[in-house]
Amino acid sequence: MQEPIRLGHPVHTFDGRELLPAGTELTAGLLKDLAAAGARRNWPEIPMLDFGTVRQDMKQQMALGGYRHIFSAADFGGDVEKLVGEARFPLPVLEGLDYFKKNDFYTYRHILMVYALSCLLSRRMSGGGRRICVEAAAGPLHDMGKACIPLPILKKDTPLLRSEKNILEQHSAAGYVLLSYYLGEAEALSAYVARDHHERRDASGYPRGISLSDRHVEIISVCDIYDALTTPRPYRRGSYDNRTALEEITRLAEEGKVDWEIVSHLVALCRHDHSRSEKCVVSLEKRGTPPVESLYGVIVEDGEEESA
Ligand SMILES: [Fe+2]
Ligand SMILES: [Fe+2]
Repeated sequence: MQEPIRLGHPVHTFDGRELLPAGTELTAGLLKDLAAAGARRNWPEIPMLDFGTVRQDMKQQMALGGYRHIFSAADFGGDVEKLVGEARFPLPVLEGLDYFKKNDFYTYRHILMVYALSCLLSRRMSGGGRRICVEAAAGPLHDMGKACIPLPILKKDTPLLRSEKNILEQHSAAGYVLLSYYLGEAEALSAYVARDHHERRDASGYPRGISLSDRHVEIISVCDIYDALTTPRPYRRGSYDNRTALEEITRLAEEGKVDWEIVSHLVALCRHDHSRSEKCVVSLEKRGTPPVESLYGVIVEDGEEESA
């Protein structure tokens, strides 16, 4: 039995009201009460793709970088658009998405692209089966908890202090709380995707350090890593090219952190002809060149920032 997560910092609603104070233990009972309080609010629900400029922003991003090859025109105009279009959310959640669009565009587009890619990958892995596709459509917004993280930390372009890293890592628990509340459902797929997307198969992740074995969360984790590597970030000059990003992800699979089968489907998707994954041989040879100037994972102990 896992210990419940204890919040190190308060969780605020998207309109800035404190929902849970620091020190709260996220027990099943508490989450159930919170979800019931959210359900009573009866917020109107809107398809995510129809909110603001989400549909056009997603389409625009699909034409950039490695996504050019992944999303052929046929992919988004047809099945994938239908699948992505099934996701409906309470209005305040979509307004939360708008917060990122205005204040941290990277996180906004990252949330959209991780969702689109995970839908495509889920559909591919399920052979178009209905059940997993519907599940995929329920699982976006994995990083919404970042709304509780101060923008100077989210956008920092110098090494994070240990204390700042701890705050940043709370976004997964915060997302779990926020989505349980707004969706009015403690076991909502989106909520536990938010909670577990930084867990790893070998139990080296956070917040609980559990061994991740949920196929759907694992798909989102792999898409999350792919998008983070291939997109410019404040802490890194340049981004990984497609090949080097896939090499980095295959290294994680070799180390037992992420699932090989998911990775091989992603590699197959990145090939121009979307080859069948059983015919797709994933090379273990590493020939790519990661960006040289990256502060990812560089942490400075508090009080030692002067010498960093
Ligand atoms: Fe995250
Ligand atoms: Fe993410």
